[in-house]
Amino acid sequence: MKAFESVRLTNIELKNRFIRSATSERLCLDNGHLSEAYYQHYEKLAQGGAAMLITGYTYPDEAFKVKSRMAGFYDDSFIPEYQRLTALAHCYDTKLLLQLVHGGSSSSLGCIESASAIPHISSGLVPEAMSKERLKTITNIFVTAAIRAERCGFDGIQIHAAHGYLFSQFLDPRMNQRMDEYGGPISNRARLLVEVIKAIDKQVSKHFHISVKVHCSDFNINGMCFDEALELCGLLTKAGVDSIEISGGDYAARKGELFYQSEAALIAEKVNIPVFLVGGVRSLKAVEKLLCTTSIAAISMSRALLCEPNLVNAYYYGKKASPDCLQCRTCQACILPSKHAPALFVSDVDGTISMHGVISKADVAAVNQYAKHNYLAFISGRSLSNLKCDLDKHKINYDFLGAYNGAYLIDRCGKVLIDHPLAIEMEELFELISKFQIKGYALTGKAGMYFNIMDTDSIMNKMKTSSYEPQIEQREVMKQLYSVNIEFRDDSTASLFIAQAEALKLNCQIYLNTHFVDIVAYRTGKLEAVKCLQSALGLEREAVTVIGDSFNDLPMIEAYNSFAISSGDLKVIKAAANQADSVEAAIHHIMG
Ligand SMILES: Cc1cc2nc3c(=O)[nH]c(=O)nc-3n(C[C@H](O)[C@H](O)[C@H](O)COP(=O)(O)O)c2cc1C
Repeated sequence: MKAFESVRLTNIELKNRFIRSATSERLCLDNGHLSEAYYQHYEKLAQGGAAMLITGYTYPDEAFKVKSRMAGFYDDSFIPEYQRLTALAHCYDTKLLLQLVHGGSSSSLGCIESASAIPHISSGLVPEAMSKERLKTITNIFVTAAIRAERCGFDGIQIHAAHGYLFSQFLDPRMNQRMDEYGGPISNRARLLVEVIKAIDKQVSKHFHISVKVHCSDFNINGMCFDEALELCGLLTKAGVDSIEISGGDYAARKGELFYQSEAALIAEKVNIPVFLVGGVRSLKAVEKLLCTTSIAAISMSRALLCEPNLVNAYYYGKKASPDCLQCRTCQACILPSKHAPALFVSDVDGTISMHGVISKADVAAVNQYAKHNYLAFISGRSLSNLKCDLDKHKINYDFLGAYNGAYLIDRCGKVLIDHPLAIEMEELFELISKFQIKGYALTGKAGMYFNIMDTDSIMNKMKTSSYEPQIEQREVMKQLYSVNIEFRDDSTASLFIAQAEALKLNCQIYLNTHFVDIVAYRTGKLEAVKCLQSALGLEREAVTVIGDSFNDLPMIEAYNSFAISSGDLKVIKAAANQADSVEAAIHHIMG
């Protein structure tokens, strides 16, 4: 789908076409400094799948403040905290733009100033008309802020020139009745914005993105009309902007989808920089059609991501086709997690969905039903090829597969989320193994499994003859080895082995189950794989349910809402929040 293709916005590359439009969260302290809640909010958004986030508007000078608890950016004391924010977004391969605003006469806190001394449409406040001297100062403040934003690690800035704030008031002939070169035709009314852009462009590096948010029309008979907006976009392009976000003066009152699609499509045809559309972006189908039939480069969403920050992931994995919140009715429901957001079910395989090599039709039907609107993952000690082959044979619609106890995790499109091969001194390990009497061992790698069995009673011997792929040359397996499983003669020998292996500090994770020992890469395991999925999908812990039966499932069973298979290990049954006879029973329990 085009919506998920990467796109170049002049000097930055987006991993897909979804942008979170600037949305003031008002989660900051009174002095504009960032709170922990602010970071948490942005982490969820970054995890949620959008390629770029634009922060809610920030004030680059204390006099420009619009509302209480909005984010500040007025001096260098903000640098460390925004550096933390940009690092956080970049962790998820998400670009981040800082939006800068001057409230103009829409401010209720800062300096009430604007293009002309005309009473504000709703508050009635009469602003002070700004002198040319003051306009120069404003330009310098925006330039200083842009330089600071680059130092913070932002990928760029966006100037808010829409929705009735200072720049938008300059552009709107109702609010701008100046007689000098900043009033009159659109080329004059755009002068301040153009001067700010040009001045910023001179001072930042060529990799730093400069975006502007404008109206395609004020949608008022006396306001800025579409033709003027088109001219404005041409002026901005010449001034050096790298992208333009198209909004409209009546967005709050609009109903339906893609409010300004025809205007944005025309602008995108005429200007030779990327244009993205905001306002009423909702269903994936409409987004895809828009991107395929126009030159619009990307779309941006605000309200849809308020209660569903991970909506883009849900679109990508086909779990949803449209958001829960279609119009903002200021119901405040968006501060609560959506009840319809996809959840995640993670299942072990052997002893859980596969009982003695058999996967029941009832289990398949249950997991496939669940996966229609939720994420489904299987994490097992098996090799990837074996796991995939078995689940595909039963037509199971999984979204993620974790092989080698989570040391290798992929999504169903093949995207690799974890790849931790074993990096240990095998000679040292085998030297240690040779000191113990063992029943056998298995090496599992990308190329398959290699068994070395010394005992005809060994469980591994039985495994070898079951559905596992045929034994292959040891040398080949060793190339990319992910796990070593050793079967000891008894529990105490296995424990003794672990004590000695740990003393060797082999740089690996060792799991014990009665007389079995599993060795995987350091800090690798099923729990780590589930955590990785939770983070990649931007889910709350409560949205994750796991099911398993044996020792290596224990860490994930203890950490999440869990089910133990009733025929499983006693320790696992004790640790799990719930018990179920089958995967089907567990799924029915959680789906109600
Ligand atoms: C709660 C809220 C806060 C907003 N804050 C900002 C903001 O800080 N800067 C901005 O440019 N637009 C802001 N907007 C407008 C949105 O970016 C967007 O243009 C508008 O909501 C239409 O898009 P939507 O239909 O996807 O919500 C805000 C909208 C909402 C609902």
